[in-house]
Amino acid sequence: MTRAAKLTFEDKTIELPVIEGSEGELAVDITQLRAEMGLITLDPAFGNTGACTSAITYIDGEKGILRYRGYPIEQLAEHSSFIETAWLLIFGKLPTRAELDRFSAQLTAHAPLHESFKHHFEGFPVNAPPMAMLSAMINTLSCFHPEAQDLDEAAFFEEAARLVSKVRTIAAYSYRRSLGLPFIYPDPKLRYVANFLHMMFSMPYDQHVATREVIEALNLILLLHADHEQNCSTSTVRVVGSSRANLFASCAAGVSALWGPLHGGANVAVLEMLEAIHKGGMSAEQTLALAKDKKSGFKLMGFGHRVYKNFDPRAVILKRSADKVLGQLGVNDPLLDIARRLEELALSDSYFVERMLYPNVDFYSGILMRAMGIPTNMFTVIFAIGRMPGWIAHWKEQHETEGMRIARPRQIYTGPRETNYLPMAERK
Ligand code: CMC
Repeated sequence: MTRAAKLTFEDKTIELPVIEGSEGELAVDITQLRAEMGLITLDPAFGNTGACTSAITYIDGEKGILRYRGYPIEQLAEHSSFIETAWLLIFGKLPTRAELDRFSAQLTAHAPLHESFKHHFEGFPVNAPPMAMLSAMINTLSCFHPEAQDLDEAAFFEEAARLVSKVRTIAAYSYRRSLGLPFIYPDPKLRYVANFLHMMFSMPYDQHVATREVIEALNLILLLHADHEQNCSTSTVRVVGSSRANLFASCAAGVSALWGPLHGGANVAVLEMLEAIHKGGMSAEQTLALAKDKKSGFKLMGFGHRVYKNFDPRAVILKRSADKVLGQLGVNDPLLDIARRLEELALSDSYFVERMLYPNVDFYSGILMRAMGIPTNMFTVIFAIGRMPGWIAHWKEQHETEGMRIARPRQIYTGPRETNYLPMAERK
């Protein structure tokens, strides 16, 4: 039996169907609301709006649950790799050995960039932000692969592998450009994460060999960032994709959305905040007081989440990993102590407790990446590499949805009523 919600406005009542998700979440289907009642809904920032149905990622923010395709993030973090998880997200099931081998072979084949990309990179100023280069160069892939517009199943597989692979080469080249260093070609003998670190840190005359601890930690960071349902950047990919823009153009838009400090850019902002405290600008206590003062416009970076009103399960895993990896690498980072102090203070402060503000994934990822020798301006770029499988999975799901329509929200207009044009001479 279809469940329904009754909506009464003035003298009219209608029934709106209630849709139930596989984990029991309920949503009122308002698609006929305007046609039947002449009303629309108003929900700025979409905090209460389901924009689609999706079978990719499940989050229960109250309980701190995150699952990709039904698999708990804790299990994937312990047993899976970023590449296996990427396959899981994009194709909906864990790969067989043959599928994973084929995917890995495609990633290796697609790692190099067309040689002309070098000229594009050389056109950027040396101090160009890597996120700007990343977004521009992902869009540029459309020029080299115009076939990305109309994808059948085989072509989609090819383009998805191309993007998952090339985003890492583009990211590494962006970093090299930002330092004025020579570009390092991918090494087909290396696996995904090791190859990225090679392209980031090798010199033509001196190959960088990443340690197992660093490879494992980066693999974990990428896996934990791989999807997070309808966040700002993923929604952007879906909105752009809904106009039938190609996969590269849609994901390039996702990179731009991710860049902001309230989203992926928060990992940079966390580090800057910890560094400022370390340099003695402000104590941890003063930082907390500033974050509580609404007039300051300052937020405690790495704290709070639109969806998680309990702990962020990714932050729990990363905190454990940060403790372990810093020990293994022999890093004694004063910023980690400051982070621990801030966390302790915030978790016992009524402002944060009442608002259910807990550390999010960005609170620990920056410290971990710093310990691995990754420069701060690359933190959000690494988030983008990690999020790519999620964006691709959502683009695919959206394109496979029957009756997909272009995204086009409405608005409540609050500007002037009809006004007659005034000739220049009559204007005050
Ligand atoms: N510091 C101080 N106050 C905060 C913070 C914070 N970090 N986060 C939320 N609040 C306050 C907020 O001002 C509001 O106060 P009040 O009820 O008095 O008006 C209350 O807590 C509830 O906020 P909310 O509605 O849960 O916040 P939101 O959904 O609008 O924003 C957020 C979510 C993540 C943008 C916000 O928590 C924030 O700016 N955090 C800092 C930036 C950050 O760490 N971003 C990374 C998010 S996780 C990774 C990702 O998705 O990219």
